Amino acid sequence: MSEKDIFKWTDSLSVGFDEIDLHHKKLLLILNKFKETLELPEAEYKAQIGKIVKNLSDYTEYHFSEEEILMKANGCPGYEDHCKIHADFVAKIKQGLAPLVSGNKQTGAEFSTFLGDWLLDHIAVADHQWADYIHSKE
Ligand SMILES: [Fe+2]
Ligand SMILES: [Fe+2]
Repeated sequence: MSEKDIFKWTDSLSVGFDEIDLHHKKLLLILNKFKETLELPEAEYKAQIGKIVKNLSDYTEYHFSEEEILMKANGCPGYEDHCKIHADFVAKIKQGLAPLVSGNKQTGAEFSTFLGDWLLDHIAVADHQWADYIHSKE
């Protein structure tokens, strides 16, 4: 994480599972890279943006599936709803990919803000719910 990062990790975001915290940090890293890319000249932006969002999409799917395994193994309440929220978010990323390739930075700026705000809120609220449940049993 660097000073100019838009989406910042804070310790209060920790869910108390190192592996999951690492995933969340990596997702924020990719989203900050997305924001940085918006500063590039148009042609470079256009050349890089597809790869970044594909990376984000792939890593998000990997993270969600690992999180769902952990939730299921621990019998977390709200498992089905949480999986649905994850699936809807993955669908949104995939939908957002195609229009980005046109290279319109305004679209990219809005999309990256949506993704980062969503992720920070999801970690702070929804992910803490299942994590707190598991910790309460320990
Ligand atoms: Fe998560
Ligand atoms: Fe989650």
